[in-house]
Amino acid sequence: MSVENGKKIFTRACAQCHTANEGGANKVGPNLFGVVGRQTGQAPGFDYTDANKNKGITWSASTLDIYLQNPKKYIPGTKMVFPGLRKEKDREDLIAYLSTLH
Ligand code: HEC
Repeated sequence: MSVENGKKIFTRACAQCHTANEGGANKVGPNLFGVVGRQTGQAPGFDYTDANKNKGITWSASTLDIYLQNPKKYIPGTKMVFPGLRKEKDREDLIAYLSTLH
């Protein structure tokens, strides 16, 4: 696992819609600081869909892994327009990076 590579993937694939710094702004998507260990739909001030808000799971390495493979399949009705990361290693590295955001 490589946090460094995960950060690069975040910059390439996620940063257009998400910030990752503490107290960072919500953009098209919610700020993701502290997302690992948090319930769905909890970023302050972000206007989530009911689908995302009511998913009612805790984001962890395993739930993020399923979600990031195919967001629309895991959360039908989500407004996150992202096709998914197909490569397992990319997801692993990215989730390792997201886990450092605390
Ligand atoms: C085109 C914009 C866009 C891209 C690219 C994008 N997202 Fe999102 N993301 C969103 C939006 C919008 C939501 C809110 C979805 C909703 O409310 O239905 C979201 C929601 C999320 C959530 C749920 C957050 C919560 O608090 O429940 C996670 C986790 C997430 N995105 C991670 C990622 C990661 C990691 C990437 C990169 C691999 C990524 N997203 C790429 C727009 C995007």
